[in-house]
Amino acid sequence: MTETLHDIAQRMVARGKGILAADESSGTIKKRFDAINTESTQTTRRDYREMLFRTDEAMREYISGVILFDETIRQTAQDGTPLVDIIKAAGSIPGIKVDAGAKPLALNSSEKVTEGLDGLRERFAEYHDLGARFSKWRAVIEIGEGGNRSMPSHNCIHANAHALARYAALAQEQGIVPIVEPEVLMDGDHDIDTCYNVTKWALKELFQQLYFAGVDLEGTVLKPNMAIAGKKCTKQASVAEVAEKTVKLLKECVPSAVPGIVFLSGGQSDTDATAHLNAMNAAYDLPWNLSFSYGRALQAAPQKAWGGDNNNWSAGQAAFLHRARMNSLAATGNWTDQVEQEAA
Ligand code: 13P
Repeated sequence: MTETLHDIAQRMVARGKGILAADESSGTIKKRFDAINTESTQTTRRDYREMLFRTDEAMREYISGVILFDETIRQTAQDGTPLVDIIKAAGSIPGIKVDAGAKPLALNSSEKVTEGLDGLRERFAEYHDLGARFSKWRAVIEIGEGGNRSMPSHNCIHANAHALARYAALAQEQGIVPIVEPEVLMDGDHDIDTCYNVTKWALKELFQQLYFAGVDLEGTVLKPNMAIAGKKCTKQASVAEVAEKTVKLLKECVPSAVPGIVFLSGGQSDTDATAHLNAMNAAYDLPWNLSFSYGRALQAAPQKAWGGDNNNWSAGQAAFLHRARMNSLAATGNWTDQVEQEAA
């Protein structure tokens, strides 16, 4: 029997599980590999990602789905098995990043709108054939001064929300669950309340546009940033404050029909991302499952342990398993500093 959008969305946000964002574009993965002195080639990218997807315990127990880049969904492992089949064999769901990246808005040199709608219906049909059952589109919203005006502008919030809604409708039409990701960046020196207000605006606009586009919220997963101070802000908020303000923000903006919310890590350290998620699940009664869809916060440690050398696969896999397990505990509010230290 074919799974409905609702079934897929429920599996994506199953309790104690989260999503591995392994969909870095060629430019982004090159940056990550530069940091570990590793050349980014089709082969090194494949080997590294195969290492993650073959971490059987992590994939089976803690990772409900993996977001892939176009190159990866077409790649085979060293033994010729399609990478998608390795993910599926572990009971995890293959997903695909379908946006074409954030490009400068016209007549506005500072802000961005995410492109990729043209031809998307046909691309979705192909990705479905390749095994993808969910997808991701990321909008980028920056806080600060851009030229002679403050960011974000209404045009940036509106254009991105509209594109997200058009994308989400196309995904559902093709039997694919859309992850909608309006990311308010942590770059800058703004405080947590400014992040709260801007994120609220972006989410209000997003859910209005999803309504206009007829998108089924029960078959949609939201991937937001947390309410958090900018990296350069001199007053960083406590873990409890990030949890409190993020929960308040989401309750204000996200209908309970949405089955789950999976956060991006956005440049938080891996343990901060875990601690924040844990604090929300430990202290609040929530209408949706609250989990993770981390890129950097799941991969920084395994990337470092692998270091571009396939002889280090088991060290890389141990590091990935550890972070996946810590975030799984956080997704049910059962993570503690102590378990983090004991298990490391
Ligand atoms: P980070 O967790 O590194 O922010 O990546 C998540 C992601 O998928 C961004 O689009």
